[in-house]
Amino acid sequence: TLDLPSETFDAVIFGSGAAGLSCAIALESLGLRCVVLTKALATDSSTSLAQGGVAVALSREDSPDLHFKDTVKAGAGLVDRKSARILVEEGVKRVIELLRYGARFETDPKGLLKFTREAAHSVARILYYRDKTGEEVERVLLSAYGGEIREFVALRELVVKDGRCYGAVVEEDGHLKVYYAPVTLIATGGAAGLYLKNTNPPTSTGDGIAVALRYGAELQDLEFVQFHPTAYCDADGCFLISEAVRGEGAVLIDRHGRRFMGDYHSLWELAPRDVVTRAIETQRRITGGDVYLDFRPIKKKGIDIYERFPTITTRLLERGIDPKKEPVPVTPVAHYYIGGIKVDTFGRTTLEGLFAAGEAACTGVHGANRLASNSLLECLVFGNRAAYGMFRDWRYLRLNFSEVRVKGEPFSPKHDREYPLEEVKRVMWEKVGIFRSAESLTAAIDGLSKVASSRSGWLVRNAAVLALAVATSAMRREESRGGHYRTDFPYEREELRRHSSFSLEDLKRLL
Ligand code: SIN
Repeated sequence: TLDLPSETFDAVIFGSGAAGLSCAIALESLGLRCVVLTKALATDSSTSLAQGGVAVALSREDSPDLHFKDTVKAGAGLVDRKSARILVEEGVKRVIELLRYGARFETDPKGLLKFTREAAHSVARILYYRDKTGEEVERVLLSAYGGEIREFVALRELVVKDGRCYGAVVEEDGHLKVYYAPVTLIATGGAAGLYLKNTNPPTSTGDGIAVALRYGAELQDLEFVQFHPTAYCDADGCFLISEAVRGEGAVLIDRHGRRFMGDYHSLWELAPRDVVTRAIETQRRITGGDVYLDFRPIKKKGIDIYERFPTITTRLLERGIDPKKEPVPVTPVAHYYIGGIKVDTFGRTTLEGLFAAGEAACTGVHGANRLASNSLLECLVFGNRAAYGMFRDWRYLRLNFSEVRVKGEPFSPKHDREYPLEEVKRVMWEKVGIFRSAESLTAAIDGLSKVASSRSGWLVRNAAVLALAVATSAMRREESRGGHYRTDFPYEREELRRHSSFSLEDLKRLL
């Protein structure tokens, strides 16, 4: 940062999805001068792509207690109970706030909120707006935030001195620049984009998480990557077919037209997400053919799928598939990063002055397997709470704050090759995917450490650093739990029922 141009704010926020904006709105109301920086357009977030909805205990037959129980059960023994309690209780307030901002969640003819079903929820609990709930949430949060947003600004490095974060170095208009602030938030989203097949925007390569690790913030539970059971993939890529489609009655069938989910779980298509994912993969192997999602039973409920799921059905029709007439081939793909930057319930990381929220963070609220539609809620609740943590720390951090000058350590590559991002994505998909083993993970760690210490560009190296941390965490967990499945340890081990952590020292040992 020695000679770079700079600007100073009270708070700098990376990421313009639900977590970043929720934090920015709250910080603004507390009177802090903040700026939201985002790598692409403000609306290019994972939030905007969310289809299913927002889980919240607001219906007559529901309660925060029931929502808490379902969250803990889905999380396979690893849910942080304190965070989960906060999620379900404060979630109600944050959703009411969204309604106040003008969110158009679906209502019945009387004007009462309508709730849909998704896997592993014991009641219909998901608020939705057609199959574009995330777009609606993004729209109202953007309109509620009156402060500044700067687009096409990419996080490159943190400014860290003596274990404290003073802001970040970014790439803006092709130049490096420093944003100084006593408090900085990383809400840059997850990293399922590190997999060849995924449902995420192309921007989700985990740079925020990787940068935090490189500057000493501890990461947690990285081995838990959630694969969504139903995406449609072709040569143009993959897109999500919401779990709400199964929630409304669609069924999974194999190549023989047989509804098979009963062989795997008593909840059939609405079994926990990791169970459905492995069942589809197993059924494909057994039958040697595709698995299909049949939308046609939805009609019996009097629902028109073109109206209820306009995004999904339009995209399928564009590809020559009419889900009213024929079953749709589906495949599990990477969807959500459960692990991330370790935070407390106010978004504090282990690095002073640095905060994280949303998919980039790990609050422990999802345990080993996230309950569907709890992620937008997590962004709203913990984005908001990060603002309170940031305000509290800003009050004393600003007193001995200066625009510190630090000299970046020059990077000297060990390998002279340049790799494309595709190389990381291929290794992750093939070796750190739905089924893992010591053998596949050893090969992954070997390949990824070469990419991480190669001459490749910063984006590829950051991706490889995080991918390496994920593969190593998966190697260390010698059991199967939630989203993490080891073919060489295909069972849960009570003595391993604890969070995992990954630190800068761990990374240094691998490079
Ligand atoms: C979906 O619509 O199936 C996605 C919901 C989620 O990932 O929470």
